[in-house]
Amino acid sequence: MLTLIKNIKELVGVETSPKLRKQGKEMAQLETIKDAYLLIEDGIISKYGAMSEFDTPRPSATPLQEGMVENADVVVDATGKIVCPSFCDSHTHLVYANSREHEFVDKIRGLSYEEIAKRGGGILNSAKATAAASEDELYDMAQQRLEEAMRLGTGAIEIKSGYGLTTESELKLLRVIRRLKENSPMTIKSNFLGAHGIPMEYRRHQEDYVDLVINEMIPRVAAEGLADFIDVFCDKGFFTVDDTARILEAGIKYGMRPKIHANEMAISGGVQVGVKYGAISVDHLEQMGDAEIECLKGSETMPTILPGCAFFLSLPLSPARKMIDAGLPVAMASDYNPGTSPSNNMQLILSMACIRYRLTPEEAFNATTINTAYAMGVSNEVGSIAVGKKANFYITKPIPSLEYMPYSFGENKVETVFLNGKQI
Ligand code: NIG
Ligand code: FE
Repeated sequence: MLTLIKNIKELVGVETSPKLRKQGKEMAQLETIKDAYLLIEDGIISKYGAMSEFDTPRPSATPLQEGMVENADVVVDATGKIVCPSFCDSHTHLVYANSREHEFVDKIRGLSYEEIAKRGGGILNSAKATAAASEDELYDMAQQRLEEAMRLGTGAIEIKSGYGLTTESELKLLRVIRRLKENSPMTIKSNFLGAHGIPMEYRRHQEDYVDLVINEMIPRVAAEGLADFIDVFCDKGFFTVDDTARILEAGIKYGMRPKIHANEMAISGGVQVGVKYGAISVDHLEQMGDAEIECLKGSETMPTILPGCAFFLSLPLSPARKMIDAGLPVAMASDYNPGTSPSNNMQLILSMACIRYRLTPEEAFNATTINTAYAMGVSNEVGSIAVGKKANFYITKPIPSLEYMPYSFGENKVETVFLNGKQI
């Protein structure tokens, strides 16, 4: 099956020598081709270039170039429209039962996120509703949210458990994620976040809950092959650095690579413990000191900022500019969840990257595509337009320029979505 997208106003994010991630000054590099074509063969990007080369094939042109239009099963004319690699959303909690707008109102009236959590709201509120929901109900809700994210331009997504907090309930969430993986055209990675909150009955002996995660949950999750990653909410009022180290060690033994929630409430040591255990990413990072930036230098760990959460909770902004200027890579994901970031819209994250964190549009595209792909271990297959990668991209509505994408915040600019080369 051959698909040709022609007359593309601008093809964004092409890579002739693909990189697994972009850091420091490289983040400003976003190669584009104006007036371009893109050719897809059996779901994989097979060729791209300028229309001028395509219209008048030189004598040396390959047969494919000469016969492209005739051979193509599908031809899409993208005149006036831009083509971008799909967003990769490397941090979501998309499987949950209930929205939490009542807590949202409590926050407006003055309660903090921590205060709500202390009195059994927050994550525990979601855990209660999730326990009461059946696997099928959770699947139907999650599937609909996934579909919405897809329509907004997301092509790869990481999904965490973490609203279970009992062995059976955590397994239920992870089985929902497995079903999403089986049935969705999206690239999906699953993350076991049993250490997301401390259930009320463990409040006075938190270490017993950590033992439960290590001795019961992790082996059961591994036995069913349900998780690619293991995560811990390492922060003030949640899990300590010691808890985190113990849980990560246990997960690593079962082949789960760490990802960490760190430094949302306070400088928690979460960055350091994540880097020590080879975390693929450390996420949130609203609170960052020089020691945290130093520690990330030269590591394999992707610092991941969650602009939706900082916006929704009015948290301090992570020093993205400082990190990039220090030579680090930066990724930005949605943190889609009912408590701190009830939006699955990566277009909005792209806008916030520029408006709130002072990333240039080029840096913002890289932060939400190739670097988030890296943060979920799939940057060899998605995250840019490169020969051999999955044909996951979107075609915009007619728009004036690529800068218009972040500039025009709150408006859906995505018109058509292609995943694995197929129009969705
Ligand atoms: O990433 N910070 C911890 N976990 C989620 C919030 C979960 C919730 O409040 O339901 C987050 O922001
Ligand atoms: Fe999160």
